[in-house]
Amino acid sequence: MNYTSIKEIDSLKKWVKQALKIKKDPLKNQRLGKDKTLVMLFFNPSLRTRLSTQKAAINLGMNVMVMNFGTEGWTLEFEDGTIMNQGASEHIKEAAEVVSQYCDIIAIRAFAGLTDKEKDNAETVLNGFVKYATVPIVNMESATGHPLQSLADAITMAEFKTKHKPKVVLTWAPHPKALPQAVANSFVEMMQLQRDMDFVITHPEGYELNPEITKDSVIEYNQNKAFENADFIYAKNWSNYNDYGKVTNTDENWTVTADKMKLTNNAKFMHCLPVRRNVIVADEVIDSENSIVIQQAHNRTYSAQLVLQKILKRLPNKTKSLEY
Ligand code: CP
Repeated sequence: MNYTSIKEIDSLKKWVKQALKIKKDPLKNQRLGKDKTLVMLFFNPSLRTRLSTQKAAINLGMNVMVMNFGTEGWTLEFEDGTIMNQGASEHIKEAAEVVSQYCDIIAIRAFAGLTDKEKDNAETVLNGFVKYATVPIVNMESATGHPLQSLADAITMAEFKTKHKPKVVLTWAPHPKALPQAVANSFVEMMQLQRDMDFVITHPEGYELNPEITKDSVIEYNQNKAFENADFIYAKNWSNYNDYGKVTNTDENWTVTADKMKLTNNAKFMHCLPVRRNVIVADEVIDSENSIVIQQAHNRTYSAQLVLQKILKRLPNKTKSLEY
């Protein structure tokens, strides 16, 4: 079993319930991961994903090895048949198989490069490991998705929703740097699995996400209108998907302010973090009691723990009686 996309979840409702059960007693399955090792490979920086996933593995009694592959590993080649006389020193075929020998699960963070849409959509790094590793793979944010984040988001909304069918708004907000679409994509995919929530995406015209992901989700270009009666506001920047990877809009009118939050139904404010204060969201919003960003980050542990737990339960028992 791999966990590379939120779409792989059979029942989101069931998973959220299971994660909340883990949250009540996180050390209950501490023997499940005994003698099992998680290798975490980071091609990009992280705070929450690194620590919450490690914490989750520790809660399950696993050993954890972390490598900042982007700065410490050999540069990898992903193309088949390449004459490797340029920058890449090692092929994914050997690297993935070698890492697999040292562990039972590999977790990978490899962001979008944001220069080559086709390459990013092909998920070269993540899929390279899926193809050549001999152990399960967990996506800790890839070029197009962040399924551990969106599972934590679903857990958080389940905890904080106060009515049967809340209105959830994913709003684009400005940012000076080009950011991937991964978090927004997985949030959209997660919302498509929700039965009892109304979902609206709002962003400036031209900032549409991949239509193969948004499908028939409601898009409202007027942010104020989208905010009306919302119960959850989820802010996130993403760079332009059409003019791929470019920052073509930094309109500060899209920043989430207290005045905009007044249009909502006393909505909770969510963001995956890290967040640029007073660019994405005003201090008065993120510091308000309606902000649940810290609780959201807390739930990263339980989303990771649920995923690791499910994988551990399905691992073949490699233990054999050894003769020395
Ligand atoms: N939200 C999230 O993935 O945070 P990090 O980038 O710090 O891991």
